[in-house]
Amino acid sequence: MKNENFDQLIDRKHNNSIKWDLYPEEVLPLWVADMDFAAPPPILEAMQKRIDHPVFGYEGPDAELLEAICNWVERRHHWKVSPDQVMLMTGVVSGMNWVANTFKEDGKDLLIQTPVYPPFFQVAKNTATGLIEAPLTQTDQGYQIDFDEFEKLASSGAGVFILCNPHNPVGRIYTRAELERLGEICLRYGITICADEIHCDLVYSGYQHISIASLSDELAANTITLMAASKTFNIPGLNFSFAIIPNEDNRNRMQKAAAGMTGHAEILANAAAKAAFTQCDDWLVDLLGYLEANRDYLMNFVLAEMPEIKIYQPQGTYLAWLDCRTLGLKPDPYQFFLSDAKVALNDGKTFGTPGEGFVRLNFGCPRATLQQALERMAAALH
Ligand SMILES: Cc1ncc(COP(=O)(O)O)c(C=O)c1O
Repeated sequence: MKNENFDQLIDRKHNNSIKWDLYPEEVLPLWVADMDFAAPPPILEAMQKRIDHPVFGYEGPDAELLEAICNWVERRHHWKVSPDQVMLMTGVVSGMNWVANTFKEDGKDLLIQTPVYPPFFQVAKNTATGLIEAPLTQTDQGYQIDFDEFEKLASSGAGVFILCNPHNPVGRIYTRAELERLGEICLRYGITICADEIHCDLVYSGYQHISIASLSDELAANTITLMAASKTFNIPGLNFSFAIIPNEDNRNRMQKAAAGMTGHAEILANAAAKAAFTQCDDWLVDLLGYLEANRDYLMNFVLAEMPEIKIYQPQGTYLAWLDCRTLGLKPDPYQFFLSDAKVALNDGKTFGTPGEGFVRLNFGCPRATLQQALERMAAALH
């Protein structure tokens, strides 16, 4: 497959798409984190093949699928896990709520690093847990973890820490040294780690995703890692995700906590995931090349045409976090770009502190769409 396929403009309007159907026709949506690209051909073929069999009865566990997941995690992330450690789930957000519910402790709070993907805040509400927000620090080198502050907050009564790596919205891929320090702190204070690594396959040149659980046996035993096929292969509507839980006791606790509340295998999602993890390596290479070029186009455009907006180069994800504070846009950048540029972004305020005066832009779209959106934004500013 060649890169130019990602240039294809696929009409997603009037298809019940959250991204494309919320705003009026004239608005270009660069918000919700799905991409405007077709799913890889092997996934479509695998689903078609399954549909060609007309009976959709109950399916049992699929050993080949679990094997494919383990091979993928080892091939791409150099982490050896076994099929018995993998639990299939129908979503990373529901997975993190499940983890938080299972491992919450009386009097202990949920720890997160802000700004962060909005459903993280909801987990505390859903599980009736207090919330501790450890803000990332904006420096000249990009977003960094203030470890003194993190440790102070972690030691003040955190029970579960939800790590977001790669980080949505700031696009950081945490280094081994950073993950080791985070891990040490969590082990020291007995904090269970829920690692949301849904964006782990979307990493650009010069960076390597590392799963925090892969760093040591202690961390593996203390961490529930959540991954998915959804972001990587642009199939989030199929709701295929999984947890890696190396510790048997933790696995049993998770299963017990959800006894009777999870269903049977999802036939089409499983067919799609098996094709994704066995036949789509080349497609992913092409996708990453296209996204990286989009990222560079975005960075260059902002620098040349909207230099008042501060933006750090995303190391991974197809999301960019735009600091518009010096522009003083009224009533806020999200509303401004929606009304004056007809471009829908995510409102930074919904990502917590510091988020006021920021917007998140999704560049997982054909270059022409990105270019049009950026030109509209620049024209609205000048
Ligand atoms: C960090 C992060 N976690 C989870 C999700 C959603 O996962 P799911 O659709 O599997 O619930 C997203 C989607 O944007 C995300 O960015």
